[in-house]
Amino acid sequence: MVEQVSASQDGERIETGITGLDEMIEGGFRKYNTILVTGGCGTGKSTLAMQYIYEGAKMGQPGVYISFEEYPEDMKTNFARYGWDIASLEMKGMVKIMHIEPQDVMRLIKEDYGSLVARGKDTHEYRIVIDSISSVEAMVESNFETRKFIMELSSWLRENKCTSIIVSETEQGPSQYVRHGAVEFAVDGVIVLYNIRRKNTRHRALEILKMRGTNHDSKIVPFSIKKGIDVLPDQKFLSDI
Ligand SMILES: Nc1ncnc2c1ncn2[C@@H]1O[C@H](COP(=O)(O)OP(=O)(O)OP(=O)(O)O)[C@@H](O)[C@H]1O
Ligand SMILES: [Mg+2]
Repeated sequence: MVEQVSASQDGERIETGITGLDEMIEGGFRKYNTILVTGGCGTGKSTLAMQYIYEGAKMGQPGVYISFEEYPEDMKTNFARYGWDIASLEMKGMVKIMHIEPQDVMRLIKEDYGSLVARGKDTHEYRIVIDSISSVEAMVESNFETRKFIMELSSWLRENKCTSIIVSETEQGPSQYVRHGAVEFAVDGVIVLYNIRRKNTRHRALEILKMRGTNHDSKIVPFSIKKGIDVLPDQKFLSDI
């Protein structure tokens, strides 16, 4: 029997560990919430999601990264460029990267955690990333089905004491967020990543579109990708956006 856990009535927060982001959201995600990270191609969605897992593991909180598109070995090689030693955290059992087929997510939900994480989960609260839900959406027929699926997924994650990021892809809007559809309404928070073109240069920015129960920053703020993501909430973004 899975213990019923409500979505952090006490307002406890899970620090993301991403520089600049936590201060925009009262210190971190609310415990057991599901947060959507969305944006166009190459905007940094997987980087943000892996940074959340990596920083959590360094703080002693195990994380599972479920990828439908990229392979774990490629991801580890790419993220090593940021100086992230994911492999050694994996050896310590703090990080697990899984490449699975979208239809298996459904199976894993139904099998109550299945092979996702080791037994003894009661002693831990996990961070989970699902990258990306767009692969699952391609399999379901309607917005209604998508929303139902996300609701089922997020309540399963909550019951299993996971504070989670779900990644989704959108069209890259020229200057503003292009709505994704059914998913935004079913999750607890939405973070939008942009890579906006001005003349011959693109500029990265991030927005907290929604974060339930949180007095969050309402500005679109710049971020950089160097050794991972650095959000710069005190810097102004392009004034015409
Ligand atoms: N070592 C690096 N230093 C700086 N920036 C990098 C580095 N490696 C990748 N990037 C930038 O990060 C971008 C990719 O980030 P990421 O894979 O997180 O984006 P994504 O939104 O998940 O992309 P996709 O739409 O392909 O899933 C690259 O397109 C590049 O601009
Ligand atoms: Mg990606």
